[in-house]
Amino acid sequence: MIDIAYAEWLELMFRWLHLIAGIAWIGSSFYFMFLDYSLRPEEGLPEGVKGASWNVHGGGFYFMQKYTVAPPKMPDVLHWFKWEAYFTWISGFSLMVIIYYWGAESFLIDREVMDLNQWQAIGISIGAFIAGWVIYDQVCKSPLGKSEIALSAIVFVMILLAAYGFTHVYSGRGAFVHVGAMVGTIMVANVFFVIIPNQRIVVDALIAGDEPDPQLGEDGKQRSTHNNYLTLPVLLMMISSHFPMIFSNQHSWVVVGLVIIIGGIIRDYYNAKNQGKSGSRLKWQWATAAAFMAVLMVFISYREDVKVAEDDQLEATDVLAIVQTRCVSCHAAKPTDEDIEEAPGGVKLETLADIKKYSAVILKQAVLTNAMPLGNKTKMTKKERQGMGDWIKRGMPAEE
Ligand code: HEC
Repeated sequence: MIDIAYAEWLELMFRWLHLIAGIAWIGSSFYFMFLDYSLRPEEGLPEGVKGASWNVHGGGFYFMQKYTVAPPKMPDVLHWFKWEAYFTWISGFSLMVIIYYWGAESFLIDREVMDLNQWQAIGISIGAFIAGWVIYDQVCKSPLGKSEIALSAIVFVMILLAAYGFTHVYSGRGAFVHVGAMVGTIMVANVFFVIIPNQRIVVDALIAGDEPDPQLGEDGKQRSTHNNYLTLPVLLMMISSHFPMIFSNQHSWVVVGLVIIIGGIIRDYYNAKNQGKSGSRLKWQWATAAAFMAVLMVFISYREDVKVAEDDQLEATDVLAIVQTRCVSCHAAKPTDEDIEEAPGGVKLETLADIKKYSAVILKQAVLTNAMPLGNKTKMTKKERQGMGDWIKRGMPAEE
């Protein structure tokens, strides 16, 4: 019999596509950011060209020039860069549907955070993505959008508020991935609703022989700069689901804030470097980013000790009973949970020997963080977590 786990294959294919499209998008966007900053005045450039950049790659020399508004006439062949961004979103949203909408009960909803049903959870998610874009877009177009500093500060606070909101609606893991997906959606929408349409108007004006409006290009550039600074933080949020220590922190918004600051500082280093800056303009970034990273690590790692009064100490059979009620519905050779087809990650927890074998990861997933049970579907209590942690830390004594 062929037993195909369709959901997992779908997830794998879309994840593969998401990585490829994302790499292509980010790669080209980093390159154009570099190109823009590396332009230098040069003698004999055509009218309307701001500067040129010499590059060497793959055995040849490239001479790139930028018309800040547009060339005098339409070239015969013009290459656009947009499908990388669109496919990143399409594949990313497909993953959202496959993992977090389809598996909402396991991955998105945590009834201790908010008692949602599947459709409510999905509705809030889609609503948040739309609202995130509309609010961001309106702020950019408002008078506040004229000041780069004010705008950056507002966007930063907006993202922190979103993180705070999501952690009060979804499981830690679902919340963190939603912050990343919301920011990612804003980035793609910047391409789809602003950058490309503006470019199209310019191209149409060229074809009609009219003078294009330079403001269109400037608006596009503003959005493209936002995308540039948001790229690194979004990447970390996208891989956060592999790191319970990141997503199961109670104050996710602080984690998100630090991640944005660190990613932004590193981008600033490269942007300044590409502009040909040197000396003190380049000295501070890596050290400052490292200092913020240290703050993030200490902040995340701080937790109360696992402490249990002597009378409340658990014995091996108690721990086995807890694992049997809280974990085995999923972590068994034949799981009874309807969303789970086989023991997740190959982790079976049916015997005391299994528990001992996986004790280090159990500590990480169910004691030091609340990543397991998934969405706390089986309603594990804090006391059980503490008792189990204490028993593991005492060296897992067997029955006397
Ligand atoms: C509702 C189903 C469910 C329950 C209940 C559950 N888990 Fe899991 N567990 C999962 C899934 C799904 C994964 C894979 C997570 C992923 O894809 O990242 C997993 C992964 C794990 C992993 C492996 C992580 C890794 O590094 O691969 C450990 C360890 C774990 N769970 C421990 C536990 C413990 C201990 C309990 C009980 C306290 C528990 N789980 C309860 C569904 C469950």
